Amino acid sequence: MTNFGNDVQFGIYKHMQAPDPNRLPMRYEDWEQRARDILDDGPYDYVAGGSGAEETIQSNREAFKRWQIVPRVFRHVEKRNLKLGLYGCMLPSPVMVAPIGVQSIIHSEGELASARAAASVGVPYIASSASSHSMEEIAEAMGDAPRWFQLYWSRDPQIAKSFVERAEQAGYTAIVVTLDTPMMAWRELDLQNVYLPFLIGEGIGNYLTDPAFRSGLEMPPEEDAMGAIMHWTRVFGHAGLTWEDLAELKKTTSLPIILKGILHPDDAKLALQYGADGIIVSNHGGRQVDGAIAALDALPAVVEAIEGRIPVLMDSGIRRGADVFKAIALGAKGVLVGRPCMYGLAVAGETGVRHVITNLLADFDLTMALSGCRDLKEINKEMVIPASR
Ligand code: FNR
Repeated sequence: MTNFGNDVQFGIYKHMQAPDPNRLPMRYEDWEQRARDILDDGPYDYVAGGSGAEETIQSNREAFKRWQIVPRVFRHVEKRNLKLGLYGCMLPSPVMVAPIGVQSIIHSEGELASARAAASVGVPYIASSASSHSMEEIAEAMGDAPRWFQLYWSRDPQIAKSFVERAEQAGYTAIVVTLDTPMMAWRELDLQNVYLPFLIGEGIGNYLTDPAFRSGLEMPPEEDAMGAIMHWTRVFGHAGLTWEDLAELKKTTSLPIILKGILHPDDAKLALQYGADGIIVSNHGGRQVDGAIAALDALPAVVEAIEGRIPVLMDSGIRRGADVFKAIALGAKGVLVGRPCMYGLAVAGETGVRHVITNLLADFDLTMALSGCRDLKEINKEMVIPASR
């Protein structure tokens, strides 16, 4: 039990007499603006943008506004417990860093900086298949800190198998299989910018270091970078997968398998039927199907379908402590945070990501306290109502 939010607040206010004129932003909007100022159009739009008219991005935020917290009082909330037990690990909070690829386009240290930041606060880091650094390098940067590996299931089964084996060996303790991206969606800003970072060799660190990938090349990537990139375009996605393939994947690993990108309750039921160990309700931060259901709107029906049998997590649109609270109230065990961490990375590398995570946790802790909750278990459906507007 801690009073984390207050500690972070007063760690800031104690500098009242002489605040650092170069201090980092506090508000999500200011982080984003700073990132916008620093980055070129290509990398900025790649991170900030979504598919189509970006209506899914908007819906993700609007969904949070349609729920309101109803605080309770007189509940002895001096100290709170934010800890979450998940897959045999006790996590310090219900927050995780979402898998995000190609981080080298926004900061020279890329995923290594984000992973170090997550490790320094004990928040699990989910390493993307599409990282610029290899999963082994990321693991090394993290020491013993908790980490999961996100799998983009390659069309080449040997590569998919090899990724999972490597992840297991490098100390990742769960496999997050992303199901909403067998191919890239229609992303108008990237098309307008004619910008796809993979084609300049960013975001393929796991592939270039993979024996199964390399065995499919005529020449090693060190001698023919373009050949390797073109091979990547052929093996990256796999639109032919079906539920039966999940059974095959389960045979290759003893790690928990968590399916990311579930939005329909019937898919949640299938996930149970085919042996998934967890679900992440997500629309990929509005980067895949435009005009799709907001992840938060999809959450209650998925939670109902799962009946508490496996953990349900969510992402897409988490920006502040109140968002974390609402997602948990609607049945998520925990949440993943995407773009906020990326703006922190772009602006201030490892320090920036640490600031973003720490401040989000402080905000969430204070939201809990001020809503009358001492423990995550007390955050339930009774704590929120649909907004009357
Ligand atoms: C992503 N996301 C993502 N997801 C995944 O499973 N593998 C990946 O490699 C990536 N790459 C990626 C790159 C960028 C630039 C972004 C913004 C997002 C999706 C990510 O894990 C998460 O679902 C969303 O970012 C959550 O939405 P918010 O928090 O960004 O609104």
